[in-house]
Amino acid sequence: MAGGCAGGRGKVRVRDVLAAKGSRRLVMVTAYDYPSALAVDRAGVDMILVGDSLGMVVLGYESTLQVTLDDMTRHTAAVARARPCALVVADMPFMSYEPSVSKAVESAGALARAGAEAVKLEGGSEYADRVRAIVNAGVPVVGHIGLTPQRVHRLSGYRRQGKTEGEVRRLVEDARALEEAGAFAIVIEYTKADAARAVTESVGVPTICIGSGPHCDGQVLVLHDLIGFSEFTPPFAKRYADVMGVVTRAVAEYAREVREGLFPGPGHYK
Ligand code: KIV
Repeated sequence: MAGGCAGGRGKVRVRDVLAAKGSRRLVMVTAYDYPSALAVDRAGVDMILVGDSLGMVVLGYESTLQVTLDDMTRHTAAVARARPCALVVADMPFMSYEPSVSKAVESAGALARAGAEAVKLEGGSEYADRVRAIVNAGVPVVGHIGLTPQRVHRLSGYRRQGKTEGEVRRLVEDARALEEAGAFAIVIEYTKADAARAVTESVGVPTICIGSGPHCDGQVLVLHDLIGFSEFTPPFAKRYADVMGVVTRAVAEYAREVREGLFPGPGHYK
């Protein structure tokens, strides 16, 4: 990669993610295009997630259900063109793996051809056969349990998961089934912190929390939430910048200068 990796680190591989369990915290963040992939990779994250959250934060949809495999391959390819040192993980969108094992393998293959170094799919033991088949086909898989936004209607909304003993037991069973099927990491979204701790202590692969507290082996956030470039920020996300404000102020300044005849100025033309 031109310029090398941030902080002198090497290219992040699946084995590095696995080796992190118990020794260092993993950092994952979403990116959906070439410049955002360059920026987050320069920040030195371990994994870039081309999340289907792009449907909401980039394409303006109300949920992730509208996101297609074509959307995901296009955005995955844009991220991959940045040649990140971080491991590139692409989300398998709604209905790209649910109908059958063969559909799942074909969809994962399309994402891998676009540049994904791993794929992520939502669900537990009910999709263990898809995970196993995709891994057998040569594409590493990240699991995703807890709040699974593609099941928003079945879950009756974006509600915190892992609130009862039974729910925690089910989360642990799902995580074990995913690990057994070959997943090398598991995202745990919007559960009680104790539930995420129980899962993390029950599996040998790293867990990555989003809105599930500090007890996972790593954390993931949606880029637009953390940089302040989204209209809505979930309560568990921390805003580290106000990019919406920066962009709005810069464009307002440009508009004022055009209207006042100040731009283009000397130096901007011959
Ligand atoms: O699509 C996404 O951004 C995700 C994260 C919320 C983990 O799946």
